[in-house]
Amino acid sequence: MLASQELAARLAVPFLESQSLPAELPQDFFLCYRDGCLKLLDKQTLKKGGLAVDIEPRPGEQHSYPAPKKDLLAQAVGKKTHTIVDATTGWAQDSLALFRMGYELTCIERSPVMAELIRDGFNRLAQKDWVIKRELTPPKLLVGNAIELLGSLREAPDCIYLDPMFPQKRKQSAATRKSMAVLRDILGDDEDRADLFAAAWQTTGKRLVVKSPDYAEPMGGKPSESYQGKLLRYDVYIK
Ligand SMILES: C[S@@+](CC[C@H](N)C(=O)[O-])C[C@H]1O[C@@H](n2cnc3c(N)ncnc32)[C@H](O)[C@@H]1O
Repeated sequence: MLASQELAARLAVPFLESQSLPAELPQDFFLCYRDGCLKLLDKQTLKKGGLAVDIEPRPGEQHSYPAPKKDLLAQAVGKKTHTIVDATTGWAQDSLALFRMGYELTCIERSPVMAELIRDGFNRLAQKDWVIKRELTPPKLLVGNAIELLGSLREAPDCIYLDPMFPQKRKQSAATRKSMAVLRDILGDDEDRADLFAAAWQTTGKRLVVKSPDYAEPMGGKPSESYQGKLLRYDVYIK
């Protein structure tokens, strides 16, 4: 069976052959293996483009391993942290940055579609020369609701990282607009983020980091520390 047929069966979604697509498609989103990776496409980008988990370093990031722990994310996560659970993995851009900084990472994602895209990205990561040369293993991916999964972790991580979807007040920057807008279209806001915060606070060993838009109220009341970026903020809650 083709990889795409297997994927359709796994996700229990229709398998469509691109050569014989009807003019009017009932589906808004599609998954497709293209250019060596799994891509998410909408109706407009069906014939081109598409979005995949980008495993390359972010613009401006050093290509060394471990990458220096100097940006706001690293400061929020803390220098003494070794193990992190990213409970809201999404496009895995924060996860991958943390992986490149050398943290030991576990990822959680509840959307089965996003989980397939992440898994494909992590498989590609495992093939990279720098990963093979250093005998690194891509982060472990757990698929399901973190509110439930966090309670079943064998060991409490030093840090739990949350970046849930908040209601939008303004347009996102050009760099993040497309992938995050598509995510928002498929999944909507994460309305249960207060429950996620409570579960993460109960589970974490030392600290909880929440990334939020700068207009949002801190999720858990006054944080122990806050790191302010241009349009976002990392609130840190220390136990
Ligand atoms: C804003 S995105 C995260 C973006 C990510 N930080 C990145 O760098 O690409 C939020 C993601 O968290 C996931 N999510 C939200 N609440 C969750 C929960 N309770 N359990 C598991 N995944 C969750 C959503 O499905 C979505 O994919």
